[in-house]
Amino acid sequence: TLGPRAIAAGTKLAAFDQIGSTNAEAMLRARDGERGPMWFVTPEQTAGRGRRQRVWVAPRGNLASSILEVTDVQPAVAATLGFAAGLSLEAALQKVSIEAALRLGPDNPKYTLKWPNDVLANGKKLSGILLEAEAVGHRLAVVVGIGTNVVAAPEGTPTPAVSLAALGIQIGAEELFAALSDAWVEFRGIWDDGRGFPEIRRLWLERAAGLGERVAVQTGTATVEGIFDTIDETGCLIVRTAAGERMQVSAGEVYFGTA
Ligand code: BTN
Repeated sequence: TLGPRAIAAGTKLAAFDQIGSTNAEAMLRARDGERGPMWFVTPEQTAGRGRRQRVWVAPRGNLASSILEVTDVQPAVAATLGFAAGLSLEAALQKVSIEAALRLGPDNPKYTLKWPNDVLANGKKLSGILLEAEAVGHRLAVVVGIGTNVVAAPEGTPTPAVSLAALGIQIGAEELFAALSDAWVEFRGIWDDGRGFPEIRRLWLERAAGLGERVAVQTGTATVEGIFDTIDETGCLIVRTAAGERMQVSAGEVYFGTA
């Protein structure tokens, strides 16, 4: 079972052998008065939630983790924590796969970050992040859920999925969580209530998938096509259309290489 190692001072941990959804559990605790910061982790999730009403089931051996904190920042600012989460997972993956990298050589996977919050390995989805926020009194409970395919890659998202095991990286969910919670302390520290988002944004863009390339973005109501230009200071995706328009997208699903 996932244990309480590598948890930063003042950060609590609730580890479950199996649970429906770590995001749901974290939000329930917030409604019960928990103020965090607190991690909720499990190697098996049976009713996990994904973005855009999708499900995210974690078969046994994968890592489902959520960090809860209650803050005074505005929801739009809290949403930018997802970028810090993506960076944290990427840093954790680099750390735990050093040995594998030496062994795999040129076959070592390349990790990139896909807007808004996915982590890709060789262009396939390895991890998804779901941010949920809810008012508790006059404050905001923010839950950042990070799901990572350690041993198995359930399909069901528009992007083809992959697991660490399938990439030749044999690490356990526990080891990955230890590295992730360490990295979170670092990137959450840089983010620091939104003031450090320019730096998070810079680091994120350095690892972005498809930057400068053609994308099609499905928002709820339309499809925006053009060149993926950047993300702005609020974390929105900026797409330059063929007509020269600069479109700002706050939520949607990105498809790469669409003609
Ligand atoms: C996505 O659709 O890509 C986001 C998936 C987020 C999954 C994680 S697993 C831990 C946390 N608990 C959930 O129910 N969902 C998130």
